[in-house]
Amino acid sequence: MTAAETEPAPAKVNLFLHVTGRRADGYHLLDSLAVFGPAADTLEAAPARSLTLSVEGPFGAALADEADNLVLRAARALAGAAGDPPPGAALRLVKRLPVASGIGGGSADAAAALRLLDRLWGLGSGPDRLARLAATLGADVPVCVRSGPARMGGVGGDLSPAPALPECGLLLANPGAALATPAVFRARTGAFSAPAALPERWPDAAAMARDLGRLGNDLEAPAIALCPPVGEALAALRALPGCLLARMSGSGATCFGLFADAAAARRAAALLPSAWWNAAGGLYGGGA
Ligand code: C5P
Repeated sequence: MTAAETEPAPAKVNLFLHVTGRRADGYHLLDSLAVFGPAADTLEAAPARSLTLSVEGPFGAALADEADNLVLRAARALAGAAGDPPPGAALRLVKRLPVASGIGGGSADAAAALRLLDRLWGLGSGPDRLARLAATLGADVPVCVRSGPARMGGVGGDLSPAPALPECGLLLANPGAALATPAVFRARTGAFSAPAALPERWPDAAAMARDLGRLGNDLEAPAIALCPPVGEALAALRALPGCLLARMSGSGATCFGLFADAAAARRAAALLPSAWWNAAGGLYGGGA
């Protein structure tokens, strides 16, 4: 391999998220359905002697001061397992997803680094080994390695199959706010939720929205308390023509609207406040 290779790091969207308990180490037990799309960072890797990372793109500046980017931690973890001397790579991350925003961001980038460098270095680790490495990097990294619809259990890394998903569209909206995940989990109060009962398949987006509407994101209320613009984003999405369901993803502040198809999501995007970040389209790697 001589030329640079590129790997997408698509946004992770939690269609519902139940907090079902808390471990002795403070991590929370979750039940969630993750899908991917409709926006992505991209990671590029070219052969090099040592490991380097440059960050650019609309949200690149937000990572400029980060001494230990999760991409480099992922690369080092994989290089450490690759032998001595550890292989190198010149990495270039184009950051198009808002940071600290509940849609995977850093976890998606770290997962893309594992997939890309495993290829570049010819390691052939296989999904199980990559998933184990991913779990050491963060609770969301294993599902991001898969980058396709999956049910998340445990603290996020116990993956099982998602119901068969229909064609649908997603509109992501971020009102320009960043939320720290630990703070949102700490602000959650009250009883834990039960795990959800999901069908094996949904015939269409409306049926999926009806079932998902009976579930929730248990981090939504604490996120709104910490960051009221999340509530404004939800209200704006809910009011859009064709929006079947509006909900926050992960620990926020990004919210999503579910639509019948990608075209409906794109039409609705034009009606959101122009100061907000948004992205619209279909699901990545799944959906009929
Ligand atoms: O695993 P990750 O580094 O992404 O998690 C960030 C923080 O979010 C954790 O330190 C913890 O405070 C919180 N968290 C949690 N339960 C989870 C996932 C994350 O409490 N299942």
